[in-house]
Amino acid sequence: MCNFLAIDDFTNKELKTLLKLAIDLKKEYFSNGNKPILNDKTLAMIFQKPSLRTRVSFEMAMHHLGGKAIYISPSEIELGKRESVADVAKVLDGYVDGIMARVFQYQQLIELAENTTIPVINGLSNYNHPCQALGDILTIMELKSRVEGLKLAFVGDGNNVATSLAKICALMNINFTIASPKGFELNKDIINHIKTISSDNQADFLQVSNPIEAVSEADIIYTDVWTSMGQEQEKESRRQLFQNYQVNQMLVDKAKSNVIVMHDLPANRGEEITEEVADGSNSVIFHQAHNRLHSAKAILYHLLANKQ
Ligand code: CP
Ligand code: NVA
Repeated sequence: MCNFLAIDDFTNKELKTLLKLAIDLKKEYFSNGNKPILNDKTLAMIFQKPSLRTRVSFEMAMHHLGGKAIYISPSEIELGKRESVADVAKVLDGYVDGIMARVFQYQQLIELAENTTIPVINGLSNYNHPCQALGDILTIMELKSRVEGLKLAFVGDGNNVATSLAKICALMNINFTIASPKGFELNKDIINHIKTISSDNQADFLQVSNPIEAVSEADIIYTDVWTSMGQEQEKESRRQLFQNYQVNQMLVDKAKSNVIVMHDLPANRGEEITEEVADGSNSVIFHQAHNRLHSAKAILYHLLANKQ
């Protein structure tokens, strides 16, 4: 485990170790504050896209653990344009102890990792969002007291967030059903891979088109924006195509009565989730956002502590 690039690079046991670490670091933080175990470490954070949660949670995680974070804005280094990805990786190798990057192309994260000796963390790519998925399982563990055998219904786009979430659910024995409009399902290769992981771990995976079918008996309903960063030109057409995939109170009422509603945020209230549901009694969206801090600490601790 020298990078954090994709959920399927990890085993169930390794994910459980990271989650236990997150729980312990969260407890420690709320009792006496975290020990400064990263006091000589610096993280470079490269962003090709905007961010609130990922940027601030990683920056604060480094701060709480006694380290430093350097934010590098989208226009600052123009990864792959002003300078090649490999050159950026080789230069940062001599300055900092780790790189977290939010990119368009997942391949650029692989390239960063291949050209540096320091750990690389995926802060989101068009393909996946593993840091979000780890924090989300932490939230589910805390609120449901278990994960095995639960049913999670994802309503919406088969996007980066859905990909990492489906994979982590498969690995953690959570049954995953995704309801997407035609043409916006998870990619076929991803589905085949998830089905393999799911059957190895006795979890079900289902891609459907009907959101009501998806949420039936669900313990968790999860949604994300209909238009991801970089797809802005499709916003209007997506708004039309996804209109039956809104998480509203009527849909929530079709799930178990104690269902929790999750959203990685930012949300477009009134589109994929109504105001009523986002602020309603089943919603855990801010608890979920706050857990990004604690799961980020687990990733950083694991990759950076005790490394030369
Ligand atoms: N959920 C998430 O990754 O949020 P940001 O885009 O604000 O980092
Ligand atoms: N799917 C969204 C997630 C944002 C955290 C996007 O990529 O824009």
